[in-house]
Amino acid sequence: MIKLLSHLSYVAITSPDVEASVEFYEKRVGLTVVDRIDGAVYLRCWGDYYRYSLVVLPGDEPALSTMAWRTSSAEALEEAARRLDAEGVEGEWFEGHGIGRAYRFVGPWGHSMTLHWDAEHRVAAPAEASIYPDRPEKRSSVAGAPRQLDHITIATSSVDDFAAWYNRVLGFRIMAKTVLDEAPISVFSVLTTNEKSHDLGVVLDGSTRGGRINHYAFWVDTREELLIAADVLLENGIPIEYGPSIHGIGEQSFLYYREPSTLRIELNTGGYRNYVPDWEPNTWRPSLGSNNFYRNSAMPMSMTESFPPADGPSATEEGVPDEIKDALFNPYAKHGQG
Ligand SMILES: [Fe+2]
Repeated sequence: MIKLLSHLSYVAITSPDVEASVEFYEKRVGLTVVDRIDGAVYLRCWGDYYRYSLVVLPGDEPALSTMAWRTSSAEALEEAARRLDAEGVEGEWFEGHGIGRAYRFVGPWGHSMTLHWDAEHRVAAPAEASIYPDRPEKRSSVAGAPRQLDHITIATSSVDDFAAWYNRVLGFRIMAKTVLDEAPISVFSVLTTNEKSHDLGVVLDGSTRGGRINHYAFWVDTREELLIAADVLLENGIPIEYGPSIHGIGEQSFLYYREPSTLRIELNTGGYRNYVPDWEPNTWRPSLGSNNFYRNSAMPMSMTESFPPADGPSATEEGVPDEIKDALFNPYAKHGQG
């Protein structure tokens, strides 16, 4: 199979208050607005190579609108559309802003995905141009501002089936998964289209809503910047939901917080590169430190909230089957530190 996809190119989300979200991205995350078209606001990190990497759209709830991957060639885009068609997935061709002729479909678990080959590269105006040739513009002057978009993590009712389908149809490599210590339930998996440990994460969703997003992530160059970002967020009254710490899977440093719509965003850095084309995914257990490398702090229950919110009475335990709560949130007490 030819390599179909090259990397995550942008994430489009909805927010009930677009201007509040956009102000947050500008002031607190360090992104810049590049376009406003028909209510959609297009933003970018200083190091993104294309015109934009985030689109904020008006919507009743915080939610994923679409996640976009750039294909490896024009031919790969056609081949991807053919493969989806052969799977019985209905998609549509459209002209996208800055991405030319693009293909959009909704996958079997309800997630909108956009594929495109054309991409308008960032050309900075003289005032924003970097003194360094490889940089699309000057480094942001916002402390801890991310360099570029990094990955997205969605929620689905079957982690293994989701991973297998995107592997088989679109060629995502499956890099690792987490299975509970107590029961053969897959709660997390990571997939990638390139040498990063993941550009697509998958978490278990026990709710009845399809197409949900758990978070998406930006990349900072160094752990020092991630720690500075944490410091500056706290100084400005922005709570940190989880971290800073290190994931066992992928070995990235992480930090999670929420934007005004309540959607979760992550800052991410470090981790390994993996170039092995026939990589066999390892199975982790929570007690091995899949989520927390140091195996010494439990993940807050709020991290299971995905978006839009699940139907149900609990705001903090939504989407999490009762039988896995303890196994997921307190693996170290029962299993020690291995
Ligand atoms: Fe993540």
